[in-house]
Amino acid sequence: MNFANSVAGPSRLPRKSARPFVSSDNRPSEPDGIFRVVLITSGSVASIKAPDIATALSNSGEIALQIVSTKSATHFSNQTVVDEAIRKSLTNLTTEKLPDDLGVRVWTDEDEWSDWKKVGEPILHIELRRWADLVVVAPCSANTLAKIAGGLCDNLATSLLRALSPETPVIICPAMNTHMYQHKFTSKHLRIIQEELEYFVLGPQGGGVLACGDEGPGKMTDWREIVYTIENFAAMHKIKLEERKQQVNIPPRADFLDPVIPLSRDTPRPPTPPTPNRLDKELPTIDQLNIVGPAYMLGMPVPKNAKELDAKTASLQHWKEMQGETYWKSRWWGGM
Ligand SMILES: Cc1cc2nc3c(=O)[nH]c(=O)nc-3n(C[C@H](O)[C@H](O)[C@H](O)COP(=O)(O)O)c2cc1C
Repeated sequence: MNFANSVAGPSRLPRKSARPFVSSDNRPSEPDGIFRVVLITSGSVASIKAPDIATALSNSGEIALQIVSTKSATHFSNQTVVDEAIRKSLTNLTTEKLPDDLGVRVWTDEDEWSDWKKVGEPILHIELRRWADLVVVAPCSANTLAKIAGGLCDNLATSLLRALSPETPVIICPAMNTHMYQHKFTSKHLRIIQEELEYFVLGPQGGGVLACGDEGPGKMTDWREIVYTIENFAAMHKIKLEERKQQVNIPPRADFLDPVIPLSRDTPRPPTPPTPNRLDKELPTIDQLNIVGPAYMLGMPVPKNAKELDAKTASLQHWKEMQGETYWKSRWWGGM
């Protein structure tokens, strides 16, 4: 496997960005085929899955990742653990000596302040939000969820979210004890972030034994499904960029200029509808897609044929049905 100078494709070598982080040094002004994801981890035990998510995304070759961890999250995962996991996965693929700057940087509240000394220098939460095509909060603790819903921004993670453009999509993966999840505040906060902020809520799982030994809903969606969802967003992003490129290239329609001139047979066809399914991947089963997740508990319509959907055909259309029209018409999706 040759990693030299590779920028995209399955062999792209994930490298830590230089500090202090400046978005424009890490993202060209024109699309380069890389989908940029900020993963926020918060103080749930499910943060132990961050290295798995980071490894899977790093190996994809077309996704660049930065991790932002709250102070509590660093008890479950940190830079060392993420580095080890990524290095190990790449060592399995190559015999080459891997460089020291390999991996994904894990940013913490300390970095926000240690990398900023005076006015004019880059501010980490602003640079990260400029860089991101997608922000994923996985796991999202009850505390972080409450802070987001209430508009608080007292750490790197919540400052980034509060400063985010409404055109950048956000996925929230709640993870908490069953009673925390069934607390009245949780449904209130989830409703706010879905309806007012138009965030996409994935999970939690509807049942199972939690790390604390309790049994019931609250466990974070399986990390593989989170990776799959991110990959779907990346695929949709690519399609949108392609559509936009085509639209820019479409010459003005003749019938607008002069109604008597008939349309040429060569008039460009409208762009192909998006189909985000990754044909090279196993599609998740309907159970993995969490169709009885919080969106429905919050009163959104359940698709009539939800249970009968064939997992092999779970696609954009079913996503639409599952998330409802409001989600699908989100500002960020329309305004990309
Ligand atoms: C071992 C341990 C596990 C925890 N697991 C969770 C959890 O799964 N979900 C949750 O919402 N809080 C959990 N907590 C509590 C949070 O860590 C705590 O509310 C913290 O303030 C969250 O801060 P953050 O949202 O800034 O990360 C856990 C705490 C401990 C000590």
